Order: sequence, then C-alpha cells, then structure tokens
Amino acid sequence: MNVTLRQLEVFSAVARRQNYTRAAEELHMSQPAVSMQIRQLEDHVGLPLFEQIGKRIHLTEAGEKMVSYARIMADLMDEADEVFEALKGVERGTLSISVATTASHFATRLLADFAKSHEGITISLDITNREALRRQLEHNEPDLIIMGQPPEGVEVDATPFMTNPLVMIAPANHPLTQKIHIPLQHFAKEHFVVRETGSGTRGAVQRFFDEHDVPFNTEIEMTSNEAIKQAVEAGLGLGIVSVHTIELELETHRLCILDVEDFPIQRNWYILQRKGKRLSPAAVAFREFVLNEAGRFIRLPATLKPAKRP
Ligand code: PGA
Repeated sequence: MNVTLRQLEVFSAVARRQNYTRAAEELHMSQPAVSMQIRQLEDHVGLPLFEQIGKRIHLTEAGEKMVSYARIMADLMDEADEVFEALKGVERGTLSISVATTASHFATRLLADFAKSHEGITISLDITNREALRRQLEHNEPDLIIMGQPPEGVEVDATPFMTNPLVMIAPANHPLTQKIHIPLQHFAKEHFVVRETGSGTRGAVQRFFDEHDVPFNTEIEMTSNEAIKQAVEAGLGLGIVSVHTIELELETHRLCILDVEDFPIQRNWYILQRKGKRLSPAAVAFREFVLNEAGRFIRLPATLKPAKRP
C-alpha cells in the first residue's frame, strides 16, 4: 500500500468529525482536496472507508480498522519526534497523567514543579477515581497513572513511591478526640461519610472493617474528599480519609485525627503504566521525578500521631 501520512491525517480528521466540511476547516484545506485524499486512500485500500447514510457519513468496517492503524501511526510518529528531539537534547512532547482523586492533593504540586524544569513538555492531568483509572489502563490511555493499590485484572508495571495512611477524622470539638486507643468495635454504631463505590479509599476502608468483623455504616456518600471534610466538620458523621487530604484542616484545627486501635490503615501510592508500554522520554522523566522527588513535596502532618496519644 502506498499510503501517505497526510492521507491518514486527513482520514482521521474526517473520521473524528464525521463530516468533510468540518474536517476541511480543521485542516485548513478545501473540501474537494479532503475528498480527493480520502478517495486516493480508498483506492490504495481497495475498499470504501466511509458510507453515506442520509445526510451523515459513517465509517465502514474497513474504516473502523483504518482508524486504529491511523492512531498507531500517529502515536509512532509522535514518539519518533520526541525521541529525536530528546537526542538533540531538546525536551518536548506531551505528557498525559491520570491520578486518583485523592492523589490530586499532592500530584498538582509535583506536576507544577516538574513543569518548571521541563518547560517544553505539554502536560495534561486527569483526576478521576480508581474504577475509571482501571478502564483507562485497559485502553492504554494515559502515559502514567498515580493511584493506590494497582488494579487486578490488568497487567501493569507499578512502583510504590510513598505511604498513604488513612486516618479517622472528626470535628475538633468531638468528644472522641479526648479518648485514646478507641477500640474499632466502638464505631460499629457510628455513621460515616464515605466516598463513592469505585473509590480506592472506600474499598480499602470497607475491606479493613470486614477483616475486623465490624459493621461499617455508610449512609452518606460523596464523590470528593473536600465534600467529606466539610460534612465531617459540620457534624454529619465521621470520615476516613488519606492523611494527604487534610493538611490544612489539621493545621487550622478544624478537624482532628482520632486515636483508633489498628489505625492508620496503611496503604501506598504507586506510579504505574500498562505492562509493556513504551514510555515517551517525557513520561520517563516524570516517572524518575516522582520516584526521586515525591518525598520533598509531601509534608505528612506532625499531627499524624493523634494529639492525645501520650
Ligand atoms: P480514590 O483513590 O480517590 O479513588 O479513593 C485512592 C486510591 O487509588 O486508593
């Protein structure tokens, strides 16, 4: 096949827009020029790539296949570009990072510092929960992911780089803040404000209570740690969150860590990518940065030891 990269680029734009005119606008070409590139590509392939149904155009089966080949070629060209730029000592390229909602509390700081010393790299950051990260891994979407325990069912290369203690929090004036070594059993009757199903924190806490055979009352669900902290402060229930999310509230004494037996729940943060993924030079640089520098950016609060513990 004598296909050109230009034909693939034009094809991808038409497939994405499902419209010749809009693809032509995107590519700053005339519509006849776009149609000609597609016709030539179809001649090379020997099959139609689009079909017109009513006013809209749709991909044929061959067209669907061509979409994946065009994507692979575009990724390879980007990779080649980055590798050659790296050989020239120029740092360029794009870096797409996805992090668990909870990790965003420190990941933004890490990225900001990385960006300062790698100005040529364009960074995109997606913040989502554990379940969504698992789906992204399956589709090999981001360059790198930062999350808690790597997911089961997807083969990954994962490296732990920092601890992630989960602590039980209460409003500063809560009577339990005066107690020490509170047995977990005490909380069988308490109400908790928890993250949504699919959150890594939620899963870890549920497992912990199950393992200790203590009921975990989860009537109030929220999709953000910020909302949980506000709800706990307002007295809606107790919370269990990563210590990385409450730096400010501890400093300003708006929340307290309770001294509960067997707490904190010990977890780790991992940086990972799908097994066998070829990391771009930008991704390799960021991975190294996280492994070497993360500790510098994350200040675990001194109050991780509960205030009342002798
Ligand atoms: P979460 O992330 O925000 O989904 O709870 C933490 C994790 O992956 O453990």
